[in-house]
This record gives sequence, structure tokens and C-alpha cells, in this order.
Amino acid sequence: MGINEVRERYFIVGGAGFIGSHFTDKLLEDPSTAKVTLYDNFVSGREWHYQHHQKDARFSVIRAQFASAVSLHSASGRGSSSKLP
Ligand SMILES: NC(=O)c1ccc[n+]([C@@H]2O[C@H](COP(=O)([O-])OP(=O)(O)OC[C@H]3O[C@@H](n4cnc5c(N)ncnc54)[C@H](O)[C@@H]3O)[C@@H](O)[C@H]2O)c1
Repeated sequence: MGINEVRERYFIVGGAGFIGSHFTDKLLEDPSTAKVTLYDNFVSGREWHYQHHQKDARFSVIRAQFASAVSLHSASGRGSSSKLP
């Protein structure tokens, strides 16, 4: 990676759903993507939507309920799986 190359990080609320998982597929196809974190309460999200990315070190899942931008801000520093509050 060159010194001026920017590597992007993404945080997808609802990422285990239909649209979010397709975004995830596209983003992880791109080698310039540094990190993709899915944030989902699994009300309708499904693990099989993203299972094929589990071994990608750039990929992680947070199981949590979206409540406010404040809860997202605190979760975005975690970057690993967690239980619903
Ligand atoms: N084969 C197809 O063409 C196909 C299949 C499925 C859906 N669709 C279409 O896709 C659209 C729906 O896709 P989508 O991705 O918006 O819906 P989705 O239900 O697939 O995804 C929403 C995601 O948000 C999560 N979520 C909901 N509330 C949350 C909260 N408070 N906190 C955290 N996570 C939360 C859910 O668990 C889910 O994973 C519809 O228009 C549907 O008709 C098409």
C-alpha cells in the first residue's frame, strides 16, 4: 500500500439483512476496503447472508439493537461480536 492510499472502514447497520449483506459482499471484493463491521439485532438478519466472509480478517459482526447514534458511537470502537443488551 502506498503512503497516500486511503483504506476505507465501513459500519453497516442492518448489515445481516438483504441489502446490507449485498453491500458487504461488494465492499469486501475491493482490496482497498480496510474493515467492514455489521451491526444487527437479527430480528430478520441471517448468519448465512455473511457466512462466507467469516474468515476475512477485515470482517466483524456486532449483535446489538440500534437505539441511537450514541449507542453506535460506543459500539464502533469494539469491532467484535457481542451480545444483545
Ligand atoms: N430476493 C430478493 O429479491 C429479495 C429478498 C429479500 C428482500 N428483498 C427486498 O429487500 C428489501 C428489504 O431489505 P432490507 O435489507 O431493507 O431488509 P432486511 O429485513 O433484509 O434487513 C434489515 C436488517 O436490519 C436489522 N434490523 C432491523 N431493526 C434493527 C435495529 N433496531 N437494530 C439493529 N438491526 C436492526 C434486521 O435484523 C435486518 O438484518 C425489501 O424491499 C424486500 O422486498 C428482496
